[in-house]
Amino acid sequence: MREKFAKKLVTRGCNFGTKELYYPQWDFSERGGPDARAERLGGVNTTEWTHCPVLLEECLQGLRIRPDGVYVDGTLGRAGHARRIAERLTEGGRLIAIDQDQAALDAAPDRFGELLGRVTLVRRNFRELPAVLDELGIAGVDGVLLDLGVSSPQLDDASRGFSYRQDAPLDMRMDQSAPLTAADVVNTYDYAALRDILSRYGEERCAPQIAAAIVRRREHAPIRTTLELVEVIRSAMPARALRERQHPAKRSFQALRIAVNDELGAIAETMEAVIPRLNPLGRLCVITFHSLEDRIVKTAMADAARGCICPPEFPVCVCGRSPQVRLLTRKPVTPSPEELEHNPRARSAKLRVCEKCRSGATT
Ligand SMILES: C[S@@+](CC[C@H](N)C(=O)[O-])C[C@H]1O[C@@H](n2cnc3c(N)ncnc32)[C@H](O)[C@@H]1O
Ligand SMILES: [Zn+2]
Repeated sequence: MREKFAKKLVTRGCNFGTKELYYPQWDFSERGGPDARAERLGGVNTTEWTHCPVLLEECLQGLRIRPDGVYVDGTLGRAGHARRIAERLTEGGRLIAIDQDQAALDAAPDRFGELLGRVTLVRRNFRELPAVLDELGIAGVDGVLLDLGVSSPQLDDASRGFSYRQDAPLDMRMDQSAPLTAADVVNTYDYAALRDILSRYGEERCAPQIAAAIVRRREHAPIRTTLELVEVIRSAMPARALRERQHPAKRSFQALRIAVNDELGAIAETMEAVIPRLNPLGRLCVITFHSLEDRIVKTAMADAARGCICPPEFPVCVCGRSPQVRLLTRKPVTPSPEELEHNPRARSAKLRVCEKCRSGATT
């Protein structure tokens, strides 16, 4: 059984299109308790928490880190990926580690330890990456990683208002200084806007009923906390939907979080802006957790990989376009069974990777 599992992992290609990008042969003889597994999967253990970065090995292979290269992790979080990138750099290399959440920046010195000297910490939205690079005097970078969505610490910290299980002010901002909170959305957006957010970002079938219930409820008093909102959502759902295994508020909370943080806008803008800043053969790795995010990443990479877009009947090319990148993942890479066994939160993760063409100019 063990050999069979190991074989499956090794023979299952990552669809990167290059032979080098296959799962490593993990040593199953040393399979230990959860901490040992976490360590092998790239988890970082401290006395308080064990953190397993999603698709870690695949990202490190995808980035193909050069020890003296310049890399960007646009989603520092608890530095799970970032620490492993920094470990592979020498004194000549640099990691620009970005997060919009002050809590991520505060935790960084602890996470990087002696590696902090190779890291530049930046508290910004990654959609401002070109400006950040300009300010640092960096024309081009050798690799960029984006591991989208919220981090486990953000979800687990009840006071941030992301959780539908614990009561807290309806906040959901990843950037604590941003002007828009979930309470603002819930209490000021009109019925149609709420319905569209719930239906589009949450794929919530009861979106019209939930939006209507929110509007009715706030006529009496504003909805201020997470559990007040959960109650309104529950009240709008039919008994059948309430019996589902998934928490009834899960989809609505996800939808509001995406809206509050303009997550789709940020990724769309960044995909456009980041490719021109990759050095020749520089790589872009993006992990998504939502089908809409994945579609944006897939389309942006495919567009950048396309050359001439002139109609076929044109005798000569007039658009002058040439491919900026080469796709290294035709299909997205997904977590291995072992990763899923250890980290169920990785369930919907998809990784796509592209490489800047040799001749692609850095602007
Ligand atoms: C999934 S977590 C990253 C986890 C990290 N890779 C690790 O292994 O610890 C996403 C992080 O990115 C940050 N983030 C999400 N969208 C962002 C954006 N547009 N700009 C800057 N940071 C963002 C969140 O605040 C969160 O800390
Ligand atoms: Zn053309």
